[in-house]
Amino acid sequence: MTDSWRPGPQRPDLSPAEVHVWQAGLDIPVQRLAQYETLLAADERARAARFRFDRHRDQYIAGRGMLRELLGRYLDQSPEAIKFSYSEYDKPFLPQGELQFNLAHSGGLVLYAFCLDEAVGVDVEVERELEDALQISERFFSPAERAVLQSLPQEARIPAFFRCWSRKEAFIKAVGEGLSYPLDAFDVSLAPDEPARLLTVRGSAGEARAWSLYSLALPPGYHGALAVKRRIKALQTWMFTN
Ligand SMILES: CC(C)(COP(=O)(O)OP(=O)(O)OC[C@H]1O[C@@H](n2cnc3c(N)ncnc32)[C@H](O)[C@@H]1OP(=O)(O)O)[C@@H](O)C(=O)NCCC(=O)NCCS
Repeated sequence: MTDSWRPGPQRPDLSPAEVHVWQAGLDIPVQRLAQYETLLAADERARAARFRFDRHRDQYIAGRGMLRELLGRYLDQSPEAIKFSYSEYDKPFLPQGELQFNLAHSGGLVLYAFCLDEAVGVDVEVERELEDALQISERFFSPAERAVLQSLPQEARIPAFFRCWSRKEAFIKAVGEGLSYPLDAFDVSLAPDEPARLLTVRGSAGEARAWSLYSLALPPGYHGALAVKRRIKALQTWMFTN
């Protein structure tokens, strides 16, 4: 397993039990942005037009443009020919084939995860000051996660909070049911000395063991996590450059 981000290949070769994660910046040169805009489907353009702030619109176009570019490389198709379907909870997916993907963006950074056959979810969060991490955790974390957070010294709580948040969100995004999936129905690890792990999924003995959960090494101030419903043999992490 590696967590060093190298320039990614033009023709990525994805095998079963392998996951590829790509990282990119969302604030890209205007010429590139204009090219990406031409790749988008009508519904994506309509969505882009609904953003109130130019920066958010441009980041959405960049995010979808790079997604299409990457999917084009995996599928050996032209990026504009790719058609998305959406789950009841808006998770985009490919209607045909075995390629699974997910994306996340925050603070000008975007992550894309790709694997074969099994559900995958990725998340990125920018660490920020919180007035009361413990109080916020009452709303979003499970009792076991809250107990771990409370046991940590004050200065370790904010990073642990965002570690936990990104891991929970990656799992939720892999499941794909949005926030209709109860956030207190599963526990993830969050202590600084513990590897990322899905610890329990309530109501389903053995389910947690079927999943792999990873922490992604991102630039300072970012927390990234990946969840996939299978045991992974290799995780490749690549930079996408425009
Ligand atoms: C919509 C949701 C999937 C993530 O939203 P988010 O954190 O605002 O955004 P992210 O950057 O992580 O992910 C957005 C991308 O996920 C994808 N996505 C949308 N709905 C999704 C779903 N139900 N499942 C998985 N992926 C989804 C889309 O590709 C979207 O990007 P795009 O619209 O530019 O294509 C959902 O989990 C949510 O609303 N979360 C709210 C945050 C929260 O309360 N989290 C608690 C964690 S402790």
